[in-house]
Amino acid sequence: MNNFTFYSPTFFAFGKDTENEAGKYVKQFGGSKVLIHYGGSSAKRSGLLDRVEASLQSENIPYVMLGGVQPNPRSGLVYEGIELCRKEGVDFVLAVGGGSVIDSSKAIAAGTIYDGDFWDFYSGKPITEALPVGTILTIAAAGSEGSPDSVITKEEGMFKRGASGNAIRPKFSILNPALTQTLPPYQSAAGITDIMAHLYERYLTNTKEVEVTDRLIEALLLTMKHEGPRVIADPNNYDARANIMWAGMMAHNNSCGVGRSQDWNSHNIEHALSALYDCAHGAGLAVTMPAVFKYVMNHDVMRFARVATRVWGCQMDFDHPEVTALEGIEAFRSFLISIGMPKNFEELGAKEEDIPKLVEVLCHGNGRGGSICGFVELTEEDCTKIYKMMI
Ligand code: NZQ
Ligand code: ZN
Repeated sequence: MNNFTFYSPTFFAFGKDTENEAGKYVKQFGGSKVLIHYGGSSAKRSGLLDRVEASLQSENIPYVMLGGVQPNPRSGLVYEGIELCRKEGVDFVLAVGGGSVIDSSKAIAAGTIYDGDFWDFYSGKPITEALPVGTILTIAAAGSEGSPDSVITKEEGMFKRGASGNAIRPKFSILNPALTQTLPPYQSAAGITDIMAHLYERYLTNTKEVEVTDRLIEALLLTMKHEGPRVIADPNNYDARANIMWAGMMAHNNSCGVGRSQDWNSHNIEHALSALYDCAHGAGLAVTMPAVFKYVMNHDVMRFARVATRVWGCQMDFDHPEVTALEGIEAFRSFLISIGMPKNFEELGAKEEDIPKLVEVLCHGNGRGGSICGFVELTEEDCTKIYKMMI
């Protein structure tokens, strides 16, 4: 196991009606003037925003509101939020929504107290200071409620970049699984896929002897395999929603990733897709992961055979472990299709003729020198082949 540090200071309030305590937690974590940041219409429609406002009012906490965060959140609204926070003297950002709202909130929180352009953080500068952020999560997916990361799309050029820093780990996150019961099945499935991707991207490691994190990941994958179809069949299944919600947090606050190298090639390959086609991140991952896994599986065929037997119930073929490995990847792909995820470029809305553009952004954007590096280093030629496998 590699040396590591692990800092995960977020306070979690989990369960029914916990959003009504938002005001109390804002006060506890030092907020005296709040920006409530939210997305399109779901939080309004469900009455959640009204309850959050009432909770702040009951604690006499003044607030301003900024809605309109789109999935794959854009830089334009971040600039708007920064200006609003400065003008209004906001000292706490409260995100009400999914990963997109939380990521936009984190960007605003860091940008408000930074002298330069907030995009510097999305061009490699670590975030060391930010206004405190709290979250009320409405979709189990990105894991941003417990992560030190934020992903924003720059409108000029439509490229997607991540920023990171412990300063943007939420001070508190309110997780009420009942809030996710209004999700359309496609969004639930995209969330399930993203959570499983966060697990797989950590499972694909070059570090030996990391049994504790291997076992945690396998347990969480098994949970997702069991609970995923239950929420697709019955969106109101509170207990299945609850298990998925907590699994989503554990999948990405890095408790399963410490002490080991991680992959993230599938995420990078997907980010180029969701930036160009504005597809759901999880849907893009459903098409990306099986192709990437098949392409790289011979790098460590036993690791793929292990997850195939332990999670997907495949029989180990000791003479031909590559057969078992492939069966596991196919089982995962069938699972994703069975919950309603797209299986190829066409179903995702992607186009074969865009592959050179995707590869260019992927391998040369963000200061990269012609390749991406994870479990296996992938060159432009490799990435072109992988995108072609998705057709
Ligand atoms: O805008 P509204 O109307 O709220 O609709 C949203 C949105 O259309 C809807 N939704 C959310 N909660 C709902 C609901 N609809 C009905 N009922 C509810 N309870 O769902 C749609 C998707 O929301 P979004 O926030 O975009 O989903 P998600 O949480 O999957 O976030 C995706 C973003 O997170 C980034 C992705 O790249 C993508 O931009 N990621 C962030 C990470 C991080 N910060 O650590 C890591 C991830 O790997 C990921 O890259
Ligand atoms: Zn993700």
